Amino acid sequence: MKHLLSTHDLSKENALNILDTARMLSDVSDRTIRKLPTLRGRTVVNLFYEDSTRTRISFEAAAKRLSADVINFSAKGSSVSKGESLKDTALTLKAMGADAIVMRHHASGAAHILANSGWIDATVVNAGDGLHEHPTQALLDAYTIRHHLRANEGDLSGVRVAIVGDILHSRVARSNIWLLNTLGAHVTVVAPPTLLPVAVNSLPVEVSYDLDSVLGKVDAVMMLRIQHERMHDAYFPSIREYASRYGLDKGRVQLLPQGSIVMHPGPMNRGIEISAEVADGENSVIVEQVSNGVNVRMAVLYLLLGGAIEGEEKQ
Ligand code: NCD
Repeated sequence: MKHLLSTHDLSKENALNILDTARMLSDVSDRTIRKLPTLRGRTVVNLFYEDSTRTRISFEAAAKRLSADVINFSAKGSSVSKGESLKDTALTLKAMGADAIVMRHHASGAAHILANSGWIDATVVNAGDGLHEHPTQALLDAYTIRHHLRANEGDLSGVRVAIVGDILHSRVARSNIWLLNTLGAHVTVVAPPTLLPVAVNSLPVEVSYDLDSVLGKVDAVMMLRIQHERMHDAYFPSIREYASRYGLDKGRVQLLPQGSIVMHPGPMNRGIEISAEVADGENSVIVEQVSNGVNVRMAVLYLLLGGAIEGEEKQ
């Protein structure tokens, strides 16, 4: 595997290999000195055309824990805002010797274009492309589910997951649907009809418009942010009505079976899709998702850049 562009074309074997490697590397994150020399001398560029907190910091931490040199490039304040094309930016990064480019872009398919352009030789990792995919988020979500429900072993067969909210605009939902399906989980998407993609019936999911009837039957519930910035129309009558039908609050969380987990990729709209009490409550694994993200991204960079495990530093 040279690039990680989507989970749609990620085999079960490769997905499990990433999860197992992340598990192994998580020991590094628990040490006092959080560093392996594996990617010493390699350059990882974070090329972000869209805002991000968690994903960018997480990739930066992951690359640094593997001793790579990290260059953070945000489109704001760069020549991109002067109209420089992706091609010219890519050629600049090539000239600087980038070994991996982690890219977030507002256009669906941008990571595929960069990887298949011939402009660069670097490995490309998709950190979110428009409404399309966000593969490392799905991998960290699968890691978190596997950790809680499968003791880090095997696939996710038999695990029932609900993905709730703004499915239409969510690359996180799309990447999760493909990966969870590959790993054998059963996925139900729950949303008002206006927030589901037109082609939802072609996805390997069950569809429901009624959150209350689904919550009693799932092992994990993933709440999604209402993506106001991508909405140019009215998709629901009011925020209040949305929250009352599709928000996960203290009352609704009681419907979950014992041991079920509550997830959110962030950033959260507390009080809309999830109440503050639930976000900070005992079923919530939201903060853990963030720390697992670093381990999963370390695994991705490690596997794609072919780091040698023999170089592991002993302490
Ligand atoms: C998501 C994204 O940017 O796709 N956030 C993330 O990466 N953790 C989801 C969102 O913006 O709601």
